Amino acid sequence: MENLKMIEEIQRLKKKKNAVILAHNYQIPEIQEVADLVGDSLKLSQVAAETDADIIILSGVRFMAESAKILSPNKKVLLPAYDAGCPMADMIDVDKLRAFKEEHPGAPVVCYVNSSAEVKAESDICCTSSNAIKIIKSIPSKKILFVPDMNLGSYIAKQVPEKEIVLFKGFCITHHRVKPTEVDQVREAYPKAKVLIHPEAAPEVVEKADFVGSTSQIINYAKESNCDTFIIGTEMGVMHKLQKDNPTKKFYLLSPGLVCNNMKKNRLVDVYEALLEEKHEITVDENIREKALGSLEKMLRIS
Ligand code: 13P
Ligand code: SF4
Repeated sequence: MENLKMIEEIQRLKKKKNAVILAHNYQIPEIQEVADLVGDSLKLSQVAAETDADIIILSGVRFMAESAKILSPNKKVLLPAYDAGCPMADMIDVDKLRAFKEEHPGAPVVCYVNSSAEVKAESDICCTSSNAIKIIKSIPSKKILFVPDMNLGSYIAKQVPEKEIVLFKGFCITHHRVKPTEVDQVREAYPKAKVLIHPEAAPEVVEKADFVGSTSQIINYAKESNCDTFIIGTEMGVMHKLQKDNPTKKFYLLSPGLVCNNMKKNRLVDVYEALLEEKHEITVDENIREKALGSLEKMLRIS
């Protein structure tokens, strides 16, 4: 089926089935254009918790669809590409988390939302890249375990020096490959540009940024800034909205390696088939869901 026909069918099926399409900022432009909402991880979970749709198509990676299911258990939550996972989320499981907790008895655990439902269930509170600092500050304990992203964790540790943050050694394979020399090169090529970087990049890269934030915070910063040239240090999917919102401004990707192959597994045809055949349904064990819900709800109350 041609793209245009498929887009028409997606719109028709959405209405007929009372479905909503929530897409992450890293989705391909065609999917962003048919989505009802395009956002960062925090926004996707806030909207998933509040929607009155019967079906949520979560075009992103598995942990995002799982979070939607945890927050909206009575809705059918569908992930278009069944194998779109997050390699960083897969770096920790419950056994590894329990072992980490045993090494540091009594310390509360903050888990990045890029984690499985089981890991969320075993944690005290979740955070995303947009609210991590606020969440960490809200915890009374001085010592805090942070899983699984050591890069986001060390960024927070610098911003909140009064806390002792113990890092689990996970990372995002996409952001972690950016090198500090790549920032130096773009700064030389575009001396007036602002460099906007996601906190999943390594500390040596993040410290060279003009602005550090979540995908949506980067998008908002570029929109509000008086500057007209930007270097974007996060996954290339954000370029679509940046260019669309700011047709007169110039955007350059910090590194050609900023592509998340898992996010890109969702194609327009997968969104269409997900709606048509109501696949691939995400389920979460009820016992795990209730505990994971506690961690997510605490986060949403503070956000
Ligand atoms: P955001 O919450 O900033 O959109 O990040 C999600 C993610 O997976 C970044 O790699
Ligand atoms: Fe996971 Fe990194 Fe892809 Fe985000 S960009 S989904 S953290 S692998």
